Amino acid sequence: STKKLWGGRFEESAAAWIDHFGASISFDKLMANEDIEGSLAHVKMLNETGILTEQEATEIENGLLSLKDNLSAGKLEFSDQNEDIHMNIESLLTKKIGPVAGKLHTARSRNDQVATDFHLYVKKRTTAVISELKKLQKALVEKAEANVETIMPGYTHMQHAQPISYAHYLLAYFEMFKRDVERFEFNQKHTDVSPLGSCALAGTTWPIDRFFTAKELGFADVYANSLDAVSDRDFALEFLSNASILMVHLSRLCEELIYWCSYEFSYIEMSDEYSTGSSIMPQKKNPDMAELIRGKSGRVFGNLMGLLTVMKGLPLAYNKDMQEDKEGIFDAVKTIIPSIKIMTGMIETLTVNKEKMQKATEDDFSNATELADYLAGKGIPFRQAHAIVGSLVLQGIKSHACLQDIPLEEYQKIDPEIGEDVYYDLQSKAAIERRKSYGSTGFEQVRHQIKQAKKSLN
Ligand code: ARG
Repeated sequence: STKKLWGGRFEESAAAWIDHFGASISFDKLMANEDIEGSLAHVKMLNETGILTEQEATEIENGLLSLKDNLSAGKLEFSDQNEDIHMNIESLLTKKIGPVAGKLHTARSRNDQVATDFHLYVKKRTTAVISELKKLQKALVEKAEANVETIMPGYTHMQHAQPISYAHYLLAYFEMFKRDVERFEFNQKHTDVSPLGSCALAGTTWPIDRFFTAKELGFADVYANSLDAVSDRDFALEFLSNASILMVHLSRLCEELIYWCSYEFSYIEMSDEYSTGSSIMPQKKNPDMAELIRGKSGRVFGNLMGLLTVMKGLPLAYNKDMQEDKEGIFDAVKTIIPSIKIMTGMIETLTVNKEKMQKATEDDFSNATELADYLAGKGIPFRQAHAIVGSLVLQGIKSHACLQDIPLEEYQKIDPEIGEDVYYDLQSKAAIERRKSYGSTGFEQVRHQIKQAKKSLN
């Protein structure tokens, strides 16, 4: 087989299948653009610092630019023989411009090169993730705005707890995705750092300028320590960890959408666009997209576990194990971006069965806390009020009656001070309206949350 770029000290070459096992080109070709970008910045710096002549640098630069054109035209052919994207690009460059291409790798190693490419890749996708998340937040706040007075049962333990505003529910997810945005933004602090110029591990004797290449590539900072620069994959672990937490949020929301569009709940209907039918049962409309997002959370968590495991025992600096860092990230990016987009579309297009939702708060006991609070307001210690209402609920269950069905005379046997106004408090709408505590489901508070939410998006 042909001689490797690093073939000088070798007498024999590996079998093709062994080369194939060691190669990363099948997946790291996704970073071809980043690799060329990194090389362009590097060669510019080599000229700027007098390491390469103007003439040499220009030849290399033009060669790289034409490879870039070929790449966007889909005309670059890569091979296992050249192992990874870095050596594939270098070998294509050599074919194009001849031996001067060999000067590009002056004061550089694949170790800082791969780290640079990977930082550039993750940085760009993190920006895309943040922008998709903001669109999802916008969809949630818009849905919330249209549903401030839409009443639904709030649940704990999947049991009716207290009535809430549907907007309040949507805004809870708004807050989760807001934290996701903040996590990815913080992630950028660690991604937006240039390892370039750290070389193999120890830096270089060449008079390079790491700040020049960092600026050229749009990095906000440079790694302070060359050993750390080529060994660090924290930014990738953080990305996968943030992606995993995001998938937890998406998956929880999917879970609710899935059972809410079931026959038993019928709180919502998903648009046809995000649903599918059955090959045998003609009546079916399945929330496939929501189920798939819930399911895809598994692979994202797996990618996080995978990379944590790859990194945990690695001595400094570069080890070939680290070639396993990329596929999990690529897969996570490919998973979370469409998942967020689909969730945004599902939220925008779903319809709410307001009557069904509200009805569910009117033939149940989710107003029991209201009655206990009412009694406590008459001076009965809350604990005692709780016990009284508990026994009324028990009687109600046995006689198929709700708290609002109990006649006033009965209530007055408990406390003669109980008046007609108790029936107002027992309405689910009143239960929400009367809540004024900060951050509560009260309509006024929900309107305040919407205002704050919109402000935070601008
Ligand atoms: N393909 C390698 C990777 O993805 C590039 C770095 C190789 N460096 C080395 N010294 N073998 O990690």
